[in-house]
Amino acid sequence: MAVAEPVTLVLGPALRYVDETTVTVWVETSGPVEISVLGRSARTFAAEGHHYAIVVVDGLPPGSDLEYSVHLNATKVWPEPGDARPAPRVRTLSRDRDLELVFGSCRDDRSVTEQAPLPGPGVDALEALSVALQAGERPLPDLMLLLGDQIYADYHHESGIVDALHRTIGAKPRAEARTFDEYASIYRRSWGQADIRWLMATVPSAMILDDHEVRDNWNVSATWRREVTALPEWREQITGAGMAYWLYQHAGNLSPAALREEGIWRALTASPAGVEQLRQFSLSLDEEAEGDGRYRLGYQRDLGRSRLVVLDTRSSRVLEKGSRSMFSEPEWAIVEAGLRGDCEHLLVATSVPLLLHRSQHDAEAWNEAMCEGTLGSWVARRSERIRRSGNLDQWAAFQTSFRRMVRVLGEVASGQRGSPPTTVLVLSGDVHHAYVAPLTFRSSAPVRSPVVQLVSSPFRNRLSARVRWWLRFAGSRPARLAARLLARSAGVPDPPADWSVTTGPLFGNFVGSVTLEPTKARVRLDRAEMRGGRPVLDPAHEELLPQGTHEPGE
Ligand SMILES: [Fe+2]
Repeated sequence: MAVAEPVTLVLGPALRYVDETTVTVWVETSGPVEISVLGRSARTFAAEGHHYAIVVVDGLPPGSDLEYSVHLNATKVWPEPGDARPAPRVRTLSRDRDLELVFGSCRDDRSVTEQAPLPGPGVDALEALSVALQAGERPLPDLMLLLGDQIYADYHHESGIVDALHRTIGAKPRAEARTFDEYASIYRRSWGQADIRWLMATVPSAMILDDHEVRDNWNVSATWRREVTALPEWREQITGAGMAYWLYQHAGNLSPAALREEGIWRALTASPAGVEQLRQFSLSLDEEAEGDGRYRLGYQRDLGRSRLVVLDTRSSRVLEKGSRSMFSEPEWAIVEAGLRGDCEHLLVATSVPLLLHRSQHDAEAWNEAMCEGTLGSWVARRSERIRRSGNLDQWAAFQTSFRRMVRVLGEVASGQRGSPPTTVLVLSGDVHHAYVAPLTFRSSAPVRSPVVQLVSSPFRNRLSARVRWWLRFAGSRPARLAARLLARSAGVPDPPADWSVTTGPLFGNFVGSVTLEPTKARVRLDRAEMRGGRPVLDPAHEELLPQGTHEPGE
């Protein structure tokens, strides 16, 4: 008689939601099983032959710090026998201590060989963070905020994960994931690397997607959407990408209370047929829905005395001419309601930066005006090509949304939306370099909270020498003046606030961190390097806010 294979842990444990009394633990297993962590347990649910569970470890005292292990059907499977890394820990938040959050974006997990003949992506900053934490060289952060491009679903032609699926648009054909199984394989490869797995088992994480979780340039413009959604493979691709995003990233973003109310979660955990609801959600990602029923990927978390608002700046964009917006109107209403004071620090996470270098901002605003047809359809078509090849799709390319967000942040900072926080920090990734840009308002109301854009990107990726040169040039006075004149010539009004990049552009692979104290925030950007055969993090920038805030000079 054949003996059934024992069920094994495929991926995880990953600590996800955390508050003062609760931590959730996400796992993928090879079959149906009961998972136990610290005396709490959960059954797996199935989705397309894969098995997942989230164990809710609740009822813990604030500020708990406990070693844990994972059992499948009462057999201990994690930590693995012989693993010399420190035992994983569960730590709850506390209002009585300061909180440290690390953040960043864009982690390309391919080896240097796989990237040949391109220059390699360098040292993995997340691996360097993991190694430093394992060695006790820095304290464990309370939260890891992953701001997009957690996977690159479109670069896997050499890895054997994805069959040769050549894109039919774009200059360079590349293989990319199309089926749910392929997306799931990429998550397993990316997060299964031993030091990354340890990090995710030890530091709770909050995540939001960007384009590469689905496909390069996802929702960059209306014409992109029209062309790509007409491709024969698109329906399968958005279904696979959406399902994988929900299962691997989104479900873990939610609190246990939110999960209990969540329709897809309830359907999946009730019966295998629930996967149909997940499939419908994935297809709905493709609809430019203005209605109230659109599924939200953005969310909020209370972090001790501070608040984190995570914006989905990719999936709910409105792209048609004349009504371009980063969010649909119902999404805006929820986002605006969440952006308020009455907390120690307000953290606003947006994968694409709100503030770019001033000349870049003006160039994107000019491009948007040209794409809208300000100078006719011939210029609009060429401008559209520039938008797509240059990835001109940050907030600056959505001018109406940019102005609205700056106004709302100004209201928070001046106490019109509750008592003003110590700082308002806008945390971003996406652009493959790092910088700091404080914002100053021209409004008559006195502004009490510093509003500062912090960009830490990438964890591991590359930027060509040409783009680095352009970014350095973008900070020069001639570039700023030329871009401003260009934007003005297209009828783009002057921005409603002033800012400049006071630190950066910094190049390399980075981890950003903010430590939230009652009267200040300590900001760090650490660059990953290789030293003595191991990845290390070197300080590249450190400042205190608001004390360290520079006056923007223009
Ligand atoms: Fe990226």
